Amino acid sequence: MQSFMKISEIFNLGLKMGVEADFRGREGVVKFLERKKQKYEKLPDEAKKDFDLEALKNPYLDSRILHISDDKEINKILVGIDIGPAEILIAKELAVDLVISHHPLGKGLAHLADVMALQADVLNMYGVPINLAEGLLKERISEVARGVNAKNHQRTVDAARLMGVNLICLHTPCDNLAARFLKEKIENNKEIETISELIKELKKIPEYQEAIKIGAGPKIFVGEEENRCGKIAMAEITGGTEGSPKLYEKMTTAGIGTIVSMHQSEEHRKQAEEAKLNVVIAGHISSDNIGLNLFLDQLTKQEIEIIPCSGFTRISRT
Ligand SMILES: [Fe+2]
Repeated sequence: MQSFMKISEIFNLGLKMGVEADFRGREGVVKFLERKKQKYEKLPDEAKKDFDLEALKNPYLDSRILHISDDKEINKILVGIDIGPAEILIAKELAVDLVISHHPLGKGLAHLADVMALQADVLNMYGVPINLAEGLLKERISEVARGVNAKNHQRTVDAARLMGVNLICLHTPCDNLAARFLKEKIENNKEIETISELIKELKKIPEYQEAIKIGAGPKIFVGEEENRCGKIAMAEITGGTEGSPKLYEKMTTAGIGTIVSMHQSEEHRKQAEEAKLNVVIAGHISSDNIGLNLFLDQLTKQEIEIIPCSGFTRISRT
């Protein structure tokens, strides 16, 4: 059977699944888009010209259709965590119809900080007052925006253009899928009382089993195996990248005992330790793998062939 999905349909399916899994709920996402629209309408005409209109319909600006060379029906996709010019050459060699990068590229990378607003709502959902979450994230968001500003955003997109390769990136929608999946598996799981039991549960997930094989399995960054978890929160799985280290103290005040994260910098780790917040690092690339796999399960139902590359291992749940 041939697929009848085109690039925009695949991309829009990713966005739709991302919204369905979003911790803010559909309503929260709609409100977020409405606020963007109000902001746009208030802009003077001169500023309107520079406004990224994608922001009015796509709640995840780190996810983009980056290059369409041939808008055909898609039967074979090369999927990777990080796509660079090397993977674009591989895509050409393997004659795939589309390349999907998980990590943001091009315009998606330039707008990475935009999705971080999601974190304030997630923290609020776990009991952190919204004024604290928004206030502390604000400075961190501008820091991330300045950080990505220096990058060579278009490098891989230019390679795709030169080689005639179709390219998209799907970041936060997939991270939302991973966060939702982990939340349902871990939070309120009666089997989990201690950190070691939490790690044991994580190790049952095939993506983490794969990670263990290469030495990148779940790890305790703060706390001891025998510590009780208390309230577990998936506060750092989705939302672009790491939030503010000043938030950890607010999380414990809000009653969170343990967070499960994808990755954590040393500065963040120290602040979490100070706040007596247990931190379990599930794994970065492995957690990215979960989100991608959940999305791709929907594509393989359409008989689309997936070729994994660049740190991605395909695990099917269908
Ligand atoms: Fe990632």
